[in-house]
Amino acid sequence: MQFPSRGNWSGAVGFVLAAMGSAVGLGNVWRYPYITGQYGGAAFILLYIGCVLAIGVPLLMAEFLIGRKTQRNPVGAFRALRPGSPWVLTGWLGIVAGFVILSYYGVVAGWVLHYVYLSAINAFAGASPDQIAAMFAALSSNHILQIFWLMILMLLTIGVVVRGVSSGIETGNKIMMPLLFVLLLGLMVYAAQTPGAATGLDFLLHPKWEKLGPIAVLEALGQALFSLSLGMGAMITYGSYLSRDTSLVKCSLFVAAGDTLVAILAGFVVFPLVFSFGLEPSVGPGLIFQTMPIAFAQLPGGYWVALAFFVLLTFAALTSTISLLEVACAYFIDEQGWSRRRASWTLGGAIFLLGIPSALGGEFLDFMDSLATNYLLPCGALLIALFTGWGLSHNERRTEFYLADASTVRFRGWSILIRFVTPVALVLIFLHQLRIL
Ligand code: PHE
Repeated sequence: MQFPSRGNWSGAVGFVLAAMGSAVGLGNVWRYPYITGQYGGAAFILLYIGCVLAIGVPLLMAEFLIGRKTQRNPVGAFRALRPGSPWVLTGWLGIVAGFVILSYYGVVAGWVLHYVYLSAINAFAGASPDQIAAMFAALSSNHILQIFWLMILMLLTIGVVVRGVSSGIETGNKIMMPLLFVLLLGLMVYAAQTPGAATGLDFLLHPKWEKLGPIAVLEALGQALFSLSLGMGAMITYGSYLSRDTSLVKCSLFVAAGDTLVAILAGFVVFPLVFSFGLEPSVGPGLIFQTMPIAFAQLPGGYWVALAFFVLLTFAALTSTISLLEVACAYFIDEQGWSRRRASWTLGGAIFLLGIPSALGGEFLDFMDSLATNYLLPCGALLIALFTGWGLSHNERRTEFYLADASTVRFRGWSILIRFVTPVALVLIFLHQLRIL
């Protein structure tokens, strides 16, 4: 079953960059460094890498496999594999999750755009910590300004998605992802020369094993799912534009490695700066918007560092919002026969409207965030693991897997992980969310 009119990646490199673009996002640059600090630095990094390898990579392979096998959006994929069965709800759950995540993620990405603007006009130079805190407070209480930036963000996202898979999404990622890496490396070299570099590195590299416990394991798992864009069909959708001769194992490993590397490097940028200026490392979302500009205000060359930092965050956020919008678009294009233009504008517009309540008050944003990361994604990931491991027959799994990865060892290893390890780990996350564990 091939649908040439749907569009395709030009090759494995374009695909890997796009999938990595989806994975690398705000989750890597602010959330990851902050929870790493909370849960004992190096010890947590090792735990996180374990979760990525044992649960993230097998799930990535499962999503790519479902997408490549059916060449369809998440709803169409489950429908094609098991017509008339309730598995199709997994696809629907993904589309709903895409709407929910993009609506509030777009607001936070809009804050990033505002900070690009503040950096560009040199607003942080010479500002006191109080003045910088006031800038964030002024933004959070200005509804019109937040809606304005959400609109700009959605227009940028729609502008890429409307151009299609290879000339829009792939080209966008091919430009933004290498720039993101260059900016990140540049910032890291810079951060390494600041006075707090040694303390920052010590904070990250000195394992505090006593801080690791069951909760840290669950945090690491939840972070791995969100950071790898798993559990809502974004990777099914990206996998659906993949040709049959591309290795799922290699692509999944590349994407997971790139995503993890960016998260770890982001820690090496953020913590030396935080410690150089005696800031509080574990303040959460405020870290990048409130504390980092304090560092930028005092650093030599701070103007350019601030600009580079927020432009980097913009690229990271945009390559993720593109993948979130594409999930719903793929459904309406494949199943409802909409043109790409109509799908991008209508759905992008609908998500913009859904984002307005998040722009009006922080509580709604927190609610949407917790709905998506604590419930929708783990639930979607569990269903995808169960479907791949138990819903598909051994032969269906094996045939698709062997198209580009004819290795019994790899297939067996993956099968064990996706059938047993991944579902058990996800059930544990759930029990924890429901306060049973
Ligand atoms: N992975 C993205 C990040 O780390 C967020 C995301 C989640 C994107 C789910 C798409 C789907 O920021």
